[in-house]
Amino acid sequence: MTRPRVVLGVSGGIAAYKACELLRRFTESGHDVSVVPTAAALEFVGAPTWSALSGKPVSSDVWSQVHEVPHVRLGQTADLVVVAPATADLLAKAAHGLADDLLTNTLLTARCPVVLAPAMHTEMWEHPATVANVATLRSRGVIVIEPAEGRLTGADTGKGRLPDPEEIFEIARDVLGRVPTGRPVADLVGRSVVVSAGGTREKLDPVRFLGNRSSGRQGYALARAAAARGAEVTLIAANVTLPDPAGVKVVRVESTADLRDAVLSAAAAADAVVMAAAPADFRPVSTSDTKIKKAHDGSAPSITLQQNPDILKEIATHRARPGSVIVGFAAETGDDTGSVLDLARAKLTRKGCDLLVVNDVSGGAVFGSTDNEAVILGADGSAVDVPHGSKSALAHMIWDQVASRLS
Ligand code: CTP
Repeated sequence: MTRPRVVLGVSGGIAAYKACELLRRFTESGHDVSVVPTAAALEFVGAPTWSALSGKPVSSDVWSQVHEVPHVRLGQTADLVVVAPATADLLAKAAHGLADDLLTNTLLTARCPVVLAPAMHTEMWEHPATVANVATLRSRGVIVIEPAEGRLTGADTGKGRLPDPEEIFEIARDVLGRVPTGRPVADLVGRSVVVSAGGTREKLDPVRFLGNRSSGRQGYALARAAAARGAEVTLIAANVTLPDPAGVKVVRVESTADLRDAVLSAAAAADAVVMAAAPADFRPVSTSDTKIKKAHDGSAPSITLQQNPDILKEIATHRARPGSVIVGFAAETGDDTGSVLDLARAKLTRKGCDLLVVNDVSGGAVFGSTDNEAVILGADGSAVDVPHGSKSALAHMIWDQVASRLS
């Protein structure tokens, strides 16, 4: 199998150092990467670093190895061009078709998907010139990732941070999986969706909790995929350590009670709610404000549990918004009362949701893994098999089902 060819453009912003991490992720996962820094990017990170990490010579102008016509060849042969960071200047040049160095020439010759990850001060991002340039680029099919909010260079904070390299990498992989256009359908534009992710924690005392191993990866893939399809996304994250998906509103919660409050409040205005979180089914009847000490006689305390509310059932049976689509997840093993699909069908009816994404976990749990395999059951009797693949691929198949029910 040929390795996907990625051109990693780097323009001149302080976040250029984060592109080293992005480059490492690409090369370690088997991509063939050519780095094209601008002259300004080389002021921040030198050519030897890019060359050593990519295993290739690096140039920023069109005058090296002219016989190989690099200003045309790189763009023509790439499967994906990613520019991270993309400065206001780079966005302006790309929007207007300027070509005064190797990176801007490559952008003009590329016919593959292009992903730009802007990073700049908030004022520059919000300037009407940049806003217009981003709109022009997006109208041409370029994927411009929303910058993150947070600490900028110096003492400033605001919108304009480069999204975490892991997040840019996930978006790039998602786009590469959708060649030739790289663009998912924009079928969720104007829709508001809520996704829950992660595992809740139920407090026992100030230092202990009951929890589970849910990593949040499937929920984060769902949020990223919905944002890529044009939705306004609220991601309710229970104890997840992954970087925030770009362009998504993240609400952090800890316990099942917190999760319930956040989901009920967001569901009121949502067209779809996907409950990918693993809420703890039980919580301690009482929690201690002070640390529970060991008894000197060697005895262990007993913990009495009570059941938590079933959030999925609640939002499915009392719909805040008529016509909204409610999606649940179920991990099943099957037992002597029925097969995985029998138990899942019964759960779908019990919960009252429209779709139930069923993972067969009889061969071991899927927690923390990057891949998934599932069946999407519909309350209308449908069953869609999702072959083994990435959590991002499963996320898109779930949104396909949601979008067809919304329309
Ligand atoms: N869920 C929820 N609130 C809970 C527990 C679960 O909203 N308190 C949601 C999960 O987010 C998931 C679905 O319900 O979408 C699956 O829940 P699961 O725990 O498998 O269902 P249970 O009814 O607890 O079934 P089981 O008897 O198999 O544990």
